[in-house]
Amino acid sequence: MIRTDPATPDLFLTPVEDVFVRNHLGPHPQLDPATWSLTVEGLVERPLRLDLPALLGLPQRRFTAVHECFGNPLHPTVPTRAVTNVEWAGVPLAAVLELAGPRPEARHVWLEGADTGDFAGESGVSYLKDLPVEQAGAEVVLAHTMNGEPLHPDHGYPVRAVAPLMFGTNSVKWLSRIVLAADRPDHLFTTRLYTRVLPGERESRPVREKDVSSKLLTPGDGRTVPAGSCELAGYAWSSSEVTSVEIAVDDGDWQPAALDRRGPDPAWQRFRLRHDLAPGRHRIRCRATDSAGRVQPLTGDRNAVHEIHVVAESGGQPARV
Ligand code: MTE
Repeated sequence: MIRTDPATPDLFLTPVEDVFVRNHLGPHPQLDPATWSLTVEGLVERPLRLDLPALLGLPQRRFTAVHECFGNPLHPTVPTRAVTNVEWAGVPLAAVLELAGPRPEARHVWLEGADTGDFAGESGVSYLKDLPVEQAGAEVVLAHTMNGEPLHPDHGYPVRAVAPLMFGTNSVKWLSRIVLAADRPDHLFTTRLYTRVLPGERESRPVREKDVSSKLLTPGDGRTVPAGSCELAGYAWSSSEVTSVEIAVDDGDWQPAALDRRGPDPAWQRFRLRHDLAPGRHRIRCRATDSAGRVQPLTGDRNAVHEIHVVAESGGQPARV
């Protein structure tokens, strides 16, 4: 089953209880923080086993980032619109790599979770992702809190990787092992699933950086609103800054919405537009463009423009639709 368009609260920070949970391999593993450890092995000068106090003793970073599910990897072009904005805190992976000392021939970082199970016809698989070593060192954080609270068990307690510019699939929960390697791992979740051919390209590549996208949250889909001036608002995001958002009502032109700047963290950006809604039923769409020049497609891909329907009522009487 493809789960589409879960409710997204219209708040800058998404409360933890509203953050979607995506587990490929069944219920979350029960990890005891007293015995949990993270090993760092492979092409390193100093293999490590870090327990929780040792990890918490390393430098920390706190930041806000969009946390977005790519969607079902078996249906990679279907929009699922599971998206949130979360504040994380944790240890930059760079600090751990510095302790371990990657050897010059180490090109890739493998990140493995403690969960195992069955998915897409393969049994007894673990959850494994990989990134180029320079990119992982520059971007990945080993997070232990979400919105200022210890990670919930569903979200990776005690420690998960967070790749802030990438789709959630790269943010390995229940992190237990880091391997430095010369090659990418050939694995269900690295080379067989979560790959795609981007528009204009021929080679398939791993699902990593987020697409440009936006979601209309106010008024909510299916809502009835008073006819007249109505605030249309939501959030837009991408792996780079979003530079414009346009809104179209029914068959009208695309109109530029006011848009907040992104700031230093890769958080989502608020957009808003006031529009006069005549009594009746309306289709409202939003479309974002990012600083790389990427524009949301109208249809046909996982980040196709978001569309909601509302009914405008005049004088307190239900409108004829
Ligand atoms: N990490 C592990 N160990 N196991 C998983 O199944 N799911 C991934 C990623 N990390 C997954 C995982 C996917 S597909 C997504 S979208 C995010 O976790 C979801 O994170 P959340 O459940 O905390 O929202």
